Amino acid sequence: STLGASAAERGGRYFGAAIAAGRMGDSTYMNILNREFNQVTAENEMKWDATEPSRNSFNFSNGDRIANHAISRGMKIRGHALLWHQQEPTWARGMEGSDLRSAMINHVTRVATYYRGKIHSWDVVNEAFADGGSGGRRDSNLQRTGNDWIEAAFRAARAADPGAKLCYNDYNTDGINAKSTGIYNMVRDFKQRGVPIDCVGFQSHLGTSISGDYQANLQRFADLGVDVQITELDVAQGSNQANIFATVTRACLNVARCNGITVWGIRDSDSWRTGENPLLFDSSGNKKAAYNSVLSAL
Ligand code: XIL
Repeated sequence: STLGASAAERGGRYFGAAIAAGRMGDSTYMNILNREFNQVTAENEMKWDATEPSRNSFNFSNGDRIANHAISRGMKIRGHALLWHQQEPTWARGMEGSDLRSAMINHVTRVATYYRGKIHSWDVVNEAFADGGSGGRRDSNLQRTGNDWIEAAFRAARAADPGAKLCYNDYNTDGINAKSTGIYNMVRDFKQRGVPIDCVGFQSHLGTSISGDYQANLQRFADLGVDVQITELDVAQGSNQANIFATVTRACLNVARCNGITVWGIRDSDSWRTGENPLLFDSSGNKKAAYNSVLSAL
């Protein structure tokens, strides 16, 4: 079997990968993608700097290369990401206040409208919480437009594409900790006040160990009434790599509202974590022990 087909048999879940438009001419890469995966995320091509390189002038060419391939193969698409403090276009980086607020809402509206009907889940806001023990928001020009910027973004995204699941996505949320609890409190507040949020993405860029409460953390978010998704999984190579991949897979299967898993690249040579070999296929495209471990867990 394959990762995608096995995940589909487990309650209609998906198993996906982040892909880069620039690698779509590589036949080894495309053969693995088409054989194993039934969901894709654009690694960079739908980010703000890529889609709105100058203010109110949009470019979807690379995003469309990925989206069109996914649609032609029946793969689900994760939109990534409408708003993020990194990979902002140069023109937005120095902006602030009400001018930035209207630019960012315009961005959300225009991009979500363009892809309306094609996106399974959107990362509406990415990485807005601070690391460490504060549990609070990360400082950024977006945050300085006012604490309500996240809910404003979710409302704009809902209006633009009512059919997409709208997600908040972050990293270092791989257990119950101050950061994940800060996000949990925001999601609970959004659900109580009717702010449109449907899902939380757990990036899961992992090292050589995994928190014992990884699954319990997913479950507490699901219990708030949102779906959960593993969105950018990669695991440092080491004696535990295959086990950690299996633990994450089982955690998703054990949480009814976990829709699926996305790994952040296909081969080790495609990974943003250069030298860490954190993926399921080696640089030649061969299945690693971690691949077999995920497939048997599915
Ligand atoms: C990374 C990409 O993989 C790199 O190619 C790019 O240079 C930087 O961004 N969290 C995210 C992703 O949400 O968008 C990031 O992707 C990895 C961390």
